[in-house]
Amino acid sequence: MNKPEGTASNIQSTLAENRLFPPPAEFAGKARIDSKRLTELRAEAEKDFVSFWAKLAREELNWKQPFSVTLDDSKAPNYRWFSDGKINVSYNCIDRHLATHGDKPAIIFEGEPGDVATLTYKQLHAEVCKLANGLKSLGVVKGDRVVIYLPMIAQAVIAMQACARIGATHSVVFGGFSAQSLRDRIEGASAKLLITADGGTRGAHVVELKKAVDEALAGGCKCIESVVVYKRTGKPIEWTRGRDVWWHELTEKASATCEPEWVDAEHPLFMLYTSGSTGKPKGIQHSSGGYLLGAHVTSKWVFDLHDADVFWCTADVGWITGHTYIAYGPLSNGATIVMYEGGPMTPDPGRFWKICQDHGVTIFYTAPTAIRALAKMGEQIPKRYDLSKLRLLGSVGEPINPEAWMWYHRVIGKEKLPIVDTWWQTETGAILMSPLPGATATKPGSCTQPLPGIFAEIVDEAGNLIQGNDAGGYLVITRPWPSMLRTVYGDNERYLSTYWSQFGDPLTARAEKRPLLYVAGDSAHRDKDGYYWILGRMDDVLKVAGHRLGTAEVESALVAHPRVAEAAVVGRPHEIKGEGIVAFVICKGERPTGKEAEALSRELREFVSKSMGPIAKPDEIRFTDALPKTRSGKIMRRLLRSVAKDEEITQDVSTLENPGIVDQLRGRA
Ligand code: WT7
Repeated sequence: MNKPEGTASNIQSTLAENRLFPPPAEFAGKARIDSKRLTELRAEAEKDFVSFWAKLAREELNWKQPFSVTLDDSKAPNYRWFSDGKINVSYNCIDRHLATHGDKPAIIFEGEPGDVATLTYKQLHAEVCKLANGLKSLGVVKGDRVVIYLPMIAQAVIAMQACARIGATHSVVFGGFSAQSLRDRIEGASAKLLITADGGTRGAHVVELKKAVDEALAGGCKCIESVVVYKRTGKPIEWTRGRDVWWHELTEKASATCEPEWVDAEHPLFMLYTSGSTGKPKGIQHSSGGYLLGAHVTSKWVFDLHDADVFWCTADVGWITGHTYIAYGPLSNGATIVMYEGGPMTPDPGRFWKICQDHGVTIFYTAPTAIRALAKMGEQIPKRYDLSKLRLLGSVGEPINPEAWMWYHRVIGKEKLPIVDTWWQTETGAILMSPLPGATATKPGSCTQPLPGIFAEIVDEAGNLIQGNDAGGYLVITRPWPSMLRTVYGDNERYLSTYWSQFGDPLTARAEKRPLLYVAGDSAHRDKDGYYWILGRMDDVLKVAGHRLGTAEVESALVAHPRVAEAAVVGRPHEIKGEGIVAFVICKGERPTGKEAEALSRELREFVSKSMGPIAKPDEIRFTDALPKTRSGKIMRRLLRSVAKDEEITQDVSTLENPGIVDQLRGRA
């Protein structure tokens, strides 16, 4: 990992941000958690965090068999929560609401072309059961892995819930990922079945999902026995007899009831691949009981869910946000959610605000990159829509810059709505740090403080806790929490080394009864009021439009091209995406210049886009004869970052193996 470098200026800017926005009195008056309640919850958790979570698990979830062991830390950091309890996630998200909320809309879906479909809890139950029975008829049993590769349509949630219902572990692959990424994930999970669609619509283009599936499965992926295809676009597709099955045919005659499969709380509900510092994404494995508890209580607390709310989280189900705050958390609370298939600019940049207006959205949760893109379009656009139903705004995925926060507050929130800036990760399963909208005064750009039951600290490079406020360093979580990842699928060593070994061997720490530190990979600053400011990743992970991308993954995609000998990828600040991608490339043969360089650069950008997916497409490619390396052969990424930003080089280049290369990298030689 890098040192918490480059953070000094960030710390300066966060220190300069001292505006404080107390929770609006009217909101606080009706909130599920006001400041008094928050203080009580914190005190309870502080006193005994294990009992704190046990009580919530008993009160908030329905168990088939109650648990007697709350936290089993005998194999820490492979913690187990509620391990002798039996539960079903789909039962908790659907069945338990049927008697009281059966006719309440669970999902309001809007397609990009404008089609709208509403599913009540009863209808959702029937659809989930039918698909669950269909999957069973294709031989899927508890413990099997199912890959889901769908557009942002209600069927994505139905598919996830159907897997949960029968105890199959799902792995959702973002519909924007390429055939190759899909293949890696199918093989990584040795999935038996894949659920996809003929296509979807995004940004007025048809996304040909089935075509990518056929490509991914061609000549490999022997594990997949069946492909269930949902008809969304109706456009012609290739068909493999004996393997492909239409969703509508599979479910047509299936029964609309399906007894939930009661699983152990630790049963893996899903895995979700995410990027790390190596070239290979890792399958983050989540549990059933603990994960659901985190999803449930954070949805309730952070979004202050009330019965009349209409909750819209704009994330894709392909990311953890879409799992926790679309497919599971809000439904577990019996809420109504909005799902939208398409892009924010289609047909025009008013689309998000029109959806808020048309469906009476009360809680809106999106990413800073979307806020910045929409802000750039001007405030007259949202002003055309009736946003009066909105009562709470949220942000997630990357640090939100104070300018974007203020625009959100002023233009969308009319200076009245609270904003929750929620910090969490694929690995944490649910929000760990966030304001509670009826209790916490907010500061633009800060995710404020850990939720009750979560214990965060800042440590220095040796892992020593930095006491008191006004501290900067590595962000760590010092006690386990129910929705934490359980392992990296098929690679527990990687789980131990990535998250628990930065400050010494976790197994030794366990044996010596010393606390284990979960290393988030972010650097953070805690200000004089004890508020946290996330400064960014400290590993070689980029946040491009809120999406996590490993520089090593982009590098290996580049070197797969026949002309590329070596590549180094770094991030550079980008006005809308937060971070953009710059690649330094050494070619086989002559370094291309002029027109040839332009053409090859275009080709390489397309090549990466094709092999990983459009989100990984580099913004810029620079050709060079060599990369700046230390005498021990390490690429000086920090120097490359400065070069990519066109900054003056202040670092010491005297230790470089090849100091002359700097001018060439900067395009001056
Ligand atoms: C990384 C996790 C959490 C769901 C979406 C992203 C960054 C996330 C915030 C925030 C500052 C944030 C961190 C984190 N991040 N939320 N509110 N403020 N940074 O999940 O893809 O697993 O990425 O996103 O760097 O480590 P993810």
